[in-house]
Amino acid sequence: MHSLPIGQTQKNFGTDGLECWKSILSEHSKTRSNQVYELFDQGITRLGIEPNQIPDVNEINRRLEPMTGWRGILVNGLEEGSVFYKMLANRLFPIGNFIRDKKDLSYTPEPDIVHDLYGHLPFLTDKKYADFCQKLGEAACRVMDRPDLLRQYERFFWFTVEFALVNTPKGNRIFGAGIASSIGECTYALSKEPELLPFDVDTIRKQEFRIDQMQAKLFLLESPEQLYESLNELISKVENDR
Ligand SMILES: [Fe+2]
Repeated sequence: MHSLPIGQTQKNFGTDGLECWKSILSEHSKTRSNQVYELFDQGITRLGIEPNQIPDVNEINRRLEPMTGWRGILVNGLEEGSVFYKMLANRLFPIGNFIRDKKDLSYTPEPDIVHDLYGHLPFLTDKKYADFCQKLGEAACRVMDRPDLLRQYERFFWFTVEFALVNTPKGNRIFGAGIASSIGECTYALSKEPELLPFDVDTIRKQEFRIDQMQAKLFLLESPEQLYESLNELISKVENDR
C-alpha cells in the first residue's frame, strides 16, 4: 500500500511565476462570474485567493480546513491513482509545487499550482462538494486491485470534477476545475464547439477521454445535487462489475 505524501515546503516561483499567476487570475477575474458556477467565485473569496500574489498553501489551509476538513498538500507532480484517491479519501488535495511556463498560460502538461489550487480548492470550500469528493476517493480505494474498475472512477472524476458543466437559470456554467483553471478551456467549453451530452453515470463510466486536447465531449449536469446523488449509482454499478 502506498503511503500518503508528506507536504513539501512551498517553492519560490520567482518573478516569472508570479507574472504567470497574475496574468491568468487578473484576466480570468474579468469573465469568470459569467462562466463558472457561482460556488467557484464564492470559494475564491472565502479562501482569499488574489491575483497579486501566489497564495501560501499553509495560509489557504488555515481557512479551508475549518470549513470542510480539506487541506492542500504540496507534491512534485501528478500522483498515481493509488496515492491520489487515497489522498482524496483523507481529505487531502495534491497541489503541484510548480507553475506553468508563462509562454503558454492556458496549458499545463501536468497539474500545477494554478490548476490545483486555483481550479480545485475553491470548490472544496463547499460542504456537499467536499463530502462528495471524499466519498469518491474512498470508493476508488476499494477497487485498487482492479484497474478496469478503477478506470471507471477515473473517467467519472474526469468528466465531473474536472470537466462538468451545469445548467443554471442564467445558462450553462462551468463546474469542472479542469475547465475553470484554463481561460482557453473556459471559452471553448461554453462555445458551440464541444458536444454537450446529458449527465449519465452509465455513459460516463464507459467514456474514454484524451488529456492532451480540448474536450470534444462534455457532460451537462442539471444541478450539483444531481452529481452528488449519482455517486451511489456509480458505486453500485462498479461493484456489480466485480
Ligand atoms: Fe485536477
